[in-house]
Amino acid sequence: MKILVLGSSGKVGHALCSLLGQQQITCLGTERSELNLTEPEQMKAVINDFQPTIVVNAASYNNPTEAENVPSLCYAINRDGVAKLADYCHEQGIPLIQVSTYRVFDGKSADAYNEQDSPNPSGVQAISRWQAEEQVRERCQQHIILRLSWIISARRNNLLVRLFKQLSAHKEVTVTADQLGCPTPADDAARVILAIIKQLDCGANVWGTYHYAAAEAVSENSFAESAISEAAQHHHLELGDLKMDKMINREGVRPPANASLDCSKIRNTFGIHRRPWRTALSGIIKTYFDNNP
Ligand SMILES: NC(=O)c1ccc[n+]([C@@H]2O[C@H](COP(=O)([O-])OP(=O)(O)OC[C@H]3O[C@@H](n4cnc5c(N)ncnc54)[C@H](OP(=O)(O)O)[C@@H]3O)[C@@H](O)[C@H]2O)c1
Repeated sequence: MKILVLGSSGKVGHALCSLLGQQQITCLGTERSELNLTEPEQMKAVINDFQPTIVVNAASYNNPTEAENVPSLCYAINRDGVAKLADYCHEQGIPLIQVSTYRVFDGKSADAYNEQDSPNPSGVQAISRWQAEEQVRERCQQHIILRLSWIISARRNNLLVRLFKQLSAHKEVTVTADQLGCPTPADDAARVILAIIKQLDCGANVWGTYHYAAAEAVSENSFAESAISEAAQHHHLELGDLKMDKMINREGVRPPANASLDCSKIRNTFGIHRRPWRTALSGIIKTYFDNNP
């Protein structure tokens, strides 16, 4: 098995490359400078040279606020680049795992979203991610689209890192009580992708769209409180610096209020069970403070 992972500097891509390395599975992780989704010739050359068994696309333009100012760049990466990737994979008979997001939904439902629910993305970035999915479905029959809920990690920009950076600098952090999600450790997302890869390698005919989110939906403010209590073992952070707000007062593009995903299909098809984010939280926070003393 040879796995090509696009977006190896990202949270999920990095975690996946590490896991594949630990399992001694041959993996080529590419950063933007090595394989840019806006450069089809580069993409073709990497695929031709490496001849992967499976391609995982964990790369994407991920800044919803900035995307409103640079829509053509966002669509070029997220939609058009992915369309080309899907074409090359299809031409060469290589299965494509496209990592996607809860942002394809509007988040207005009170229930966890399942794969039959209708997408209704809002904002350039979310629309581009939905269109990416559509391109993959149309162009590459052997595809898995894996939608994830909130990703947490000790690396790069995410809810946890934002929280600790701000609080460590004695800045107030605004969190909402009316935004719900399942904080999914990047390592857990990598575990799920690896489980899918292994079954694809066994010839399982399981193409389609799946949801994965760590167990237990939580509001942003409750998650922040849990993270701060856990972090107290490593660092002194003031809970009082958390400011409660409502989604409606948020500036810029508002994320879906409900990012929880129903994971029955992935369990029934792949036997993949949800892991609770709470058990992973301590390790992620320790890594963060080890790296940011
Ligand atoms: N973060 C979340 O909360 C979340 C939630 C649900 C789903 N997801 C999905 O999970 C996947 C991975 O997300 P993540 O949070 O791990 O992402 P991330 O940390 O933001 O990393 C994104 C990756 O994409 C790369 N990239 C950006 N533009 C590129 C281009 N033009 N060509 C090639 N690579 C490019 C980045 O490279 P640079 O290092 O050069 O920027 C980086 O490696 C994405 O599909 C995302 O939508 C994320």
